[in-house]
Amino acid sequence: MRRGINLGNRLDALPARPVPDAWFDLVRDAGFDTVRLPVRWSAHAAATAPYTLDGPFAAAVDGAVDGALRRGLTTIVDVHHYDAIQTAPGAHADRLVGLWAGIAARYADRSPALWLEPLNEPHGALDTPQWNALLRRALAAIRAADPDRTVLIGPAPMNDIHALPRLELPADAHVRATVHYYAPLRFTHQGAPWVDGADRWHDVGWGGDGRDGDADRAAVTADLERLAAHGAVFVGEFGTYERADLASRVRWTAHVRGELDRLGLDWCYWDFATDFGVYDPAAGAWREPLRKALLP
Ligand code: BGC
Repeated sequence: MRRGINLGNRLDALPARPVPDAWFDLVRDAGFDTVRLPVRWSAHAAATAPYTLDGPFAAAVDGAVDGALRRGLTTIVDVHHYDAIQTAPGAHADRLVGLWAGIAARYADRSPALWLEPLNEPHGALDTPQWNALLRRALAAIRAADPDRTVLIGPAPMNDIHALPRLELPADAHVRATVHYYAPLRFTHQGAPWVDGADRWHDVGWGGDGRDGDADRAAVTADLERLAAHGAVFVGEFGTYERADLASRVRWTAHVRGELDRLGLDWCYWDFATDFGVYDPAAGAWREPLRKALLP
């Protein structure tokens, strides 16, 4: 069972910010065994073939990868926030494949504890048929440099659990499906400025305080049991935006995490230190109720 955490809004931010090395000790000492590093490679590589990676940026990613591996953490590197491929997949497909040729070659000598993930949350114009075709090409580029590395691939749109049956994974012993879980969205993303309509969602509780907590929990359990029927799917993100009340956030987090553990599904919380975070970087302290919900 893997218990992971995303280190978001660093290498995926604009401008990018390095991941503080001390964070790897913090998360490992807390009991996490896995970190996911969201990386906005698309903003730090040439626009034309061979899509050369920007040297100083790639060195910052190397620093995070090696800092995490040195702590014995399973470490996931993705392509995150490649917004242009979601609006114009035809114009960007070759570039995604080329980026992966470069990234996979760069990390081919790292330990098997480094995993790769071709694209976070394909969506928009990058629909299911196009993604199913493109993921094969991205995987082939990785395989040309690195035949046995674990590769996580999630469905379009948005790595949604309900889209999983339409994900077409190539036969490859080292490929695993990944999904993100944020249901119900009007609870987990209430007030989130990047979600259409979320400004109308407020004071949405979960799991108690005047709600039918059993019904809330049963809905999540049903989702996750359906998910587990697909086998060893990796839950690469789940979490709640800070706008929801803390008691509900803690109940949701504890229930989702508990069900994933019960069902034997590896997970990776979103995230460490952003507005979803289980850690408050300004205070230099864990948000204890959330931490305990993840690592009781
Ligand atoms: C995005 C974050 C967002 C989170 C939850 C991630 O994939 O990169 O910006 O906060 O999902 O919506």
